Order: sequence, then C-alpha cells, then structure tokens
Amino acid sequence: MDRSFCIAPMMAKTDKQFRFLVRQLTKKSILFTEMIHTNSILFGNQNKLLEYSEIENPIVLQLGGNDPISLSKVCLMANNLNYDEINLNLGCPSSKVKSGNFGAALMKQPDLVKDCLIAMQEASSKPISVKIRLGIDDLDINESLDRFVSEVSSTGIKVFYVHARKALLDKLSPKDNREIPPLNYSRVMKLKEDFNDLEIIVNGGIKDYYKEKDNFSTLDGIMIGREAYSYPKKLENVDSIFYKKNDKNNSLISITKNMFDYFETLDKKNEIKRGLIHMHGLYNGLKNARKIRILLSNSSFFKPAKNEIIDLINDNYKNAA
Ligand SMILES: Cc1cc2nc3c(=O)[nH]c(=O)nc-3n(C[C@H](O)[C@H](O)[C@H](O)COP(=O)(O)O)c2cc1C
Repeated sequence: MDRSFCIAPMMAKTDKQFRFLVRQLTKKSILFTEMIHTNSILFGNQNKLLEYSEIENPIVLQLGGNDPISLSKVCLMANNLNYDEINLNLGCPSSKVKSGNFGAALMKQPDLVKDCLIAMQEASSKPISVKIRLGIDDLDINESLDRFVSEVSSTGIKVFYVHARKALLDKLSPKDNREIPPLNYSRVMKLKEDFNDLEIIVNGGIKDYYKEKDNFSTLDGIMIGREAYSYPKKLENVDSIFYKKNDKNNSLISITKNMFDYFETLDKKNEIKRGLIHMHGLYNGLKNARKIRILLSNSSFFKPAKNEIIDLINDNYKNAA
C-alpha cells in the first residue's frame, strides 16, 4: 500500500459519508475509519464494522482497546470485510480513553501493547499498524520513543503513523493536546533514521501539504487531519502530486450532485444530516459559500436543496468570468 498521503482518523468526522466525499477528490490516498472501540463492536453494534463501500479502498480500520482477546476477535471478524489494514490507536489523549486505559495511555505499557499486537497479527489476514505519539507525560522522547518503537516492531509491526508531539494526559484537554506541546518533526525524521526498515508516516499540523511535501521526503508519507476536513476541495491534486496519477478532477458541481445522489442511498436521516455537515468545507473560498452552508444546514433530510446549491455555484463562476 502506498501511504504517501493519508487522511487521519477523526471521531465524528471520518465516517462513511465523509469518506465518500473524499473519494470524489482523491482515489489513491489512504482513508481511515473513526476509532472504533472493541467493546462497541463485541457488545454493541457489529454493523459499525460494515460501514464502508467499495469505492473507499484503500481504507484502514482503526481500533481502540487494550484487551488482546477482544482485539483478536474483532480482527477475525474483519478478515471477511473490505479493509486493507487494521490500526491500533496508541495516540488518543481523551480522559475517557485514559480512564479506559487505551489510546495514548498505552505508550507507558509496552508489554501490554505487544500482547495486543501479537494477538491481532495472529488473528488477522491483514497488515496491522499503529498510530502513536512521540511519547506521553514525563517520558523522555529521546530515549523512550526508540525503545517503544523497538519493542513494538519486535512483534512484526512495520507501519507507524506518528503524531509529532507528546500527549500530556493529566494536564491538557484532547483539543489542547492537538495544539500543545509544539510539533517536533525532526524527532520523527530521527526515528526514520534509526529504524530505516520501518514505514514512518508523519502527522500533525501539516496544512500546506503540496508545498511541504518535500520537507518530509525521507519519510514514507504524511497524514492530514483537520486541514483535510476543513478544506476538502484542496485534496483534488493529491493523486497527481503524490501519486503521479493524472485523472480528470471532478468539478464542484459534479461532486455536489454525486453527494446528493449518494444521500438518496442512505436510509438513516442522521447519516444524511452528518453528510450535509461534512460538505460545509467544500465550498470554502466561494463568494456564495455562506449561503450554501445555510442551505446545507437547513436542508430537509429527503429533499435537500441540491438545485439551489448548484445555482449558487454556477453564479459564483459566472461572476468570476
Ligand atoms: C475531531 C477529531 C477527532 C479525532 N479522532 C481521532 C481518532 O478517532 N483516532 C485517532 O487516532 N486520532 C484522532 N484524532 C487525531 C487526528 O487523527 C490527528 O492525529 C490530529 O488531528 C493531528 O493531525 P492534524 O493536525 O493534521 O489535524 C482526532 C482529531 C480530531 C480533530
């Protein structure tokens, strides 16, 4: 799998509706599900695992959890599904995650992480990867990161998505933990130097990804979260610039039509509503963006204001000409 450009997992954002939107703009980039906790699958909604469509590949299923048996059960279930890789979340800093002892909290428990990853690899027919931070709390990232990666990779794990900052679990909210402490890309570069045989994908704060691409050329890829969600239209050159694949881009009008056609195939109102919200960023930069966002917010679920939105897009181009 070519991980040159990945869209980060984001709870309440990278659901199947957003992924459908992203696939209108880039066919090659690697998509992630939101993190799904093993318990929510084993004791709750197994259908959560089924929420993808064929057009989404390549796609990575991200799991949260700390119990090797539960993780292996979910990996077994996923063997028959269309995921290309399964990723264990070792980077999420939320208090819920911390009190449940999964996500970033696991970076202090390499033995447990190894047990989880061994169980997952034994059960899964798909590659297993991890998403980590540089460290947590008082860990010294110069020593502890290499030690952690060395231990984890000794189980056979070859792919590391690295959010280039520590997580401060006791001091900061999840939101602040995405801005503080400062990003440290050079530590990620050093990690790749130390572990040249591993695939290292850098994440965190990358906005101008076409320009910044060459800064990360020693790494195996970049992972973009919030910028991709807020400005999806910017993704339209990813396939040509990161994958040298020059397919014709979809116009804003055809993306809009495709989204509304897709909504017709969904049967839950709240799924359509979330899809309409994900479209908000698509029109950023248009003169009529605000009017379009209001229409998206007010659309009744079954008769969204598709034609009005298309008229507003056309109006924008007419005035620009
Ligand atoms: C709303 C939101 C939800 C997130 N949910 C997840 C998640 O489910 N799993 C995960 O590994 N990271 C999650 N993250 C972290 C992102 O994957 C990413 O590491 C972080 O946003 C930094 O990248 P960025 O600066 O490009 O956004 C989330 C981030 C945001 C903003």
